[in-house]
Amino acid sequence: MRQVKTLGLLGTGVIGGGWAARALHFGIDVIAADVKPEMESWIRGAVANAEPALARLTSAPLPPKGKLSFTTDLNAMAAKADFIQENIPEQIELKQRVLAQVSRHAPADVVIASSTSGIMPSDLQRDMVAPERLIVGHPFNPVYLLPLVELVGGKQTSDAAIEAARRFYTYIGMHALKVRKEIPGHLTDRLQEALWREILHMVNDGIATTGELDESIIYGPGLRWAAMGTNQIYHLAGGEAGMRHMLAQFGPCLKWPWTKLEAPELTDSLIDKMVEGTSATADGRSIRELERLRDDYLVAIQQVLRQFDIGAGGTLKALETRLFNDAAARGASRKDDPAAPLRLLESEVRAEWIDYNGHMTDSRYLQVFGDASDALWRRAGIDEAYRAAGRALYTVETHINYAAEVRQADSIYVTTQVIGLDVKRLNVFHRLHRGDGVLAATAEQMFVNVDTKAKKSAPMPPLVYGKLEAIAKAHAGLPRPAGAGRAIGMGR
Ligand SMILES: NC(=O)c1ccc[n+]([C@@H]2O[C@H](COP(=O)([O-])OP(=O)(O)OC[C@H]3O[C@@H](n4cnc5c(N)ncnc54)[C@H](O)[C@@H]3O)[C@@H](O)[C@H]2O)c1
Repeated sequence: MRQVKTLGLLGTGVIGGGWAARALHFGIDVIAADVKPEMESWIRGAVANAEPALARLTSAPLPPKGKLSFTTDLNAMAAKADFIQENIPEQIELKQRVLAQVSRHAPADVVIASSTSGIMPSDLQRDMVAPERLIVGHPFNPVYLLPLVELVGGKQTSDAAIEAARRFYTYIGMHALKVRKEIPGHLTDRLQEALWREILHMVNDGIATTGELDESIIYGPGLRWAAMGTNQIYHLAGGEAGMRHMLAQFGPCLKWPWTKLEAPELTDSLIDKMVEGTSATADGRSIRELERLRDDYLVAIQQVLRQFDIGAGGTLKALETRLFNDAAARGASRKDDPAAPLRLLESEVRAEWIDYNGHMTDSRYLQVFGDASDALWRRAGIDEAYRAAGRALYTVETHINYAAEVRQADSIYVTTQVIGLDVKRLNVFHRLHRGDGVLAATAEQMFVNVDTKAKKSAPMPPLVYGKLEAIAKAHAGLPRPAGAGRAIGMGR
């Protein structure tokens, strides 16, 4: 299965738009294909709407954004994509027909994934060419912020296709949950439907309003569910004896049972109650407004969970580690003159980095220079393992000098010169250039190696020091930068 540089989208509605935003953000080109030409402006709008929240998800260095193109020619898309994600309406015959058509034009090593909410992959792959590359990759709305994707294989699906899909989804920051056995509704929709069925019954029987039932989740179980699923939470609820006690205590209720298995009839009166109830909770706010609110708290929750390395926060943390490693590797793979400053970081000035003057705001310069330092450290072996072993480089001084304007969407790169090194200290000089080569800013930084348990400076281990020493020796012949050692002042 091939490496994915271009994602092909089949159907560009709500879910197609979400896939596009996520993939573009993490540097994947997207060819969006839909039978309706008007969906081009729709998908461009959907990507733009997703951007503000997505941009705040992580400040780790991202590759340049992917490029979005649109076509109504599904076959042309299929011939150019490295991975195809189908997001057309949930109708089995339509999906079967379109997947079979597209499979005739997509090379056999291109995975074709369906976003279907509940159709089984064995049914979808029935008429396809090379059906072994068909999987279900079921995402959740908004696809650009929720990491879960259920990965389901059909009777003919190959392990290689599943593995390739898992690699790709992980690359774009998702948590791929492999479903062991195909069933209608996969795992999550089966669970969601059970809950929704109970809601419909209780609204229908006049027991509670939609708003009250939402309260019953958001003030209680919903908060717990963000990091521990129902089973772990019940394990905790059983006291010292955990799940065993929980089952003994509540097992009898399962036999009564509390819940109803059949959904109620969707009468006009029930539909009205559901619609009026949810409109009352919306309280005059438009769908767009509510989406923005939802997106903001979804970003915030994931950032909090990252501190605990749990659930979606663990996925975000792993993604950031990968982004930092990739940024360092991009720099390391360049065939630069070793005796020149190292080109460690390439990036693009993002919309949210801009201040009221239309320039990149001060704190972002520090972020960009910090990311360049991080890339240098990784090159020397100063990484998560180094920090886990109780060592770290602490920044003791930074001096930034601004030389030229940097504006939104400018491409930028940073070069780094090692200007001082001993076993405990590292002194570097960064130059931030715009893509047109103009020097826009410089930063001098001093770092001290610290034993984080003893909270004292300590010599670097010989292997790490040796790598930094090799760079320092290669840079020894360079002229000392004019701004190095410079102090701030008004002059006399
Ligand atoms: N909406 C959700 O919350 C959600 C969540 C997860 C998965 N899904 C699944 O994703 C799929 C798409 O759902 P959606 O909500 O994005 O639907 P949607 O109606 O918003 O979008 C469907 C798009 O497919 C296009 N289309 C129709 N026929 C086509 C064809 N023959 N070729 C190419 N494009 C065609 C339509 O023009 C439309 O733009 C469904 O299978 C659904 O079950 C939806």
